[in-house]
Amino acid sequence: MKKRDIFLLLGALALIIILWMAPEETTQPVPKDDIHLKFYDIVKNDGKKAAEKFCEDCHNDDNIPFSEDHPSKFRCLFCHKVKFDD
Ligand code: HEC
Ligand code: HEC
Repeated sequence: MKKRDIFLLLGALALIIILWMAPEETTQPVPKDDIHLKFYDIVKNDGKKAAEKFCEDCHNDDNIPFSEDHPSKFRCLFCHKVKFDD
């Protein structure tokens, strides 16, 4: 393998890692408070899709509106992680 190929490979690898890490580091996880803790149980027992159904009961334009620059609201838990490990 040529030196150039190795650098190219490392560059691609770095990019993948950065893309992989970025959303999780910048997007707030689902809070671990009295309101949200029950969703941790739902995710554990029935999966993310079951838990997500409830988010928009509160997170909607009438109750807790999203910020203007909030991205697509499809599938909350793809972006807002439930963090079991801390
Ligand atoms: C019973 C109402 C209610 C439901 C249901 C609810 N939330 Fe919330 N959520 C709140 C309130 C109130 C806040 C602001 C206070 C707080 O941080 O707890 C909040 C805050 C948040 C935040 C912001 C945290 C931060 O650091 O700014 C996120 C992310 C969030 N909720 C995600 C979710 C997701 C995902 C679901 C569905 C699994 C969900 N919420 C369901 C009431 C609710
Ligand atoms: C595509 C990824 C993505 C999805 C899907 C998503 N969010 Fe977010 N959410 C974000 C990001 C990124 C922010 C931070 C935006 C900012 O700083 O303005 C955020 C911020 C929030 C906040 C803090 C207040 C605000 O509006 O900035 C709440 C609450 C929240 N999201 C709830 C939800 C709920 C509930 C759902 C599902 C209905 C959801 N999000 C789906 C990426 C996502």
